[in-house]
Amino acid sequence: MWRELLPVGRHGTTGGYRRHAWTAADADCRAWFEEQARRRGLTYEVDRNGNQWAWWGDPAAGGAVVTGSHLDSVPDGGAYDGPLGVISAFAALDALRARGVTGGRPLAIGNFSDEEGARFGVACVGSRLMTGVLDPGQARELKDDHGVTLGTAMERAGHDPDAIGRDDDRLARVAAFVELHVEQGRNLGDAQVGVASSIWPHGRWRFDFQGQANHAGTTRLEDRHDPMLAFAAAVLKARGQAERAGALATFGKVSVEPNGTNAIPSRVTAWLDSRAPDAATLDMLVKEITHESRATVTRESYTPLVEFDGRLRDHLVGLLGGVPVLPTGAGHDAGILASALPTAMLFVRNPTGASHCPDEHAEEADCLAGVAALAHVLEDLLRE
Ligand code: GLV
Ligand code: MN
Ligand code: MN
Ligand code: MN
Repeated sequence: MWRELLPVGRHGTTGGYRRHAWTAADADCRAWFEEQARRRGLTYEVDRNGNQWAWWGDPAAGGAVVTGSHLDSVPDGGAYDGPLGVISAFAALDALRARGVTGGRPLAIGNFSDEEGARFGVACVGSRLMTGVLDPGQARELKDDHGVTLGTAMERAGHDPDAIGRDDDRLARVAAFVELHVEQGRNLGDAQVGVASSIWPHGRWRFDFQGQANHAGTTRLEDRHDPMLAFAAAVLKARGQAERAGALATFGKVSVEPNGTNAIPSRVTAWLDSRAPDAATLDMLVKEITHESRATVTRESYTPLVEFDGRLRDHLVGLLGGVPVLPTGAGHDAGILASALPTAMLFVRNPTGASHCPDEHAEEADCLAGVAALAHVLEDLLRE
């Protein structure tokens, strides 16, 4: 599976993945998923929100156990964030079949669409739409950097944008969701596999700094209205305040107009990603960064604290023999689905903690331990 998927959407120079939602690279990933489902004789379908499903057993039976993750990426992302969970799901299913397991319940593998939100700014679009936490009308109007709306992008990719929205019927047929994911820090230590306890509250805010364009060679310093200065101050403030708060704040995307070397900018637009252990800390941190930033600040998305289902989490830890239980600052579809379903996550060790970059890595032995753990958990849940 890795051999087939690794070349898809890989940038020749950076070695990173550019598999943004509803692009050609994403379509190739989706074709790969469909092919994996068909090769195994699974029932393949795409739901109203563009999420792909591969069913072992009757999709209509109810009480299903679902596993999977996503195949899209951040700009120049790594190979594991997302794909490890999808590949491990197919590998775990193969292991169950090889062992002669016959599930009492249906098992489905999911590929959730647009998890990273790299193109349209909102993460976990497929699972947010499914659970109704994202309004379909708003979703259709989300725009990429070229002004293409999500609705148009979906339509061009052959998906009906008018079909998107809350999918209670599908959620009602699912008993539990387990997502396996590469761990995205260095928090597992010597353990190959761990179980997630919670996801920090996190969000994205757009900062618009307004200025006045002018000549870089003739405009006196005292005559300038340079929005780059306010932006630079906000970046430093974000770092300082995040350190004080024991939280995280990142300006990772910026757009400058007119973007000329010899012109003072007229406008800087920058996106803040901020995350904290609790909502009050996050709220305070963003207020402090906003305060005196001289920017117009718009909240583009927000995900509250997620505590994964305690019973399912303890059950997994028991099954896997006391593996570490840890929180994460990374968002996941499992975090969104947790509002509607008993949901759990398995993490596979990341030796350097690199993620959302081409250096992201997990050792083969740890990935195989992850597959074994997932197969063990699924086998148990299918019997329950
Ligand atoms: C998703 O990977 C996120 O936390 O940004
Ligand atoms: Mn990610
Ligand atoms: Mn991910
Ligand atoms: Mn000139």
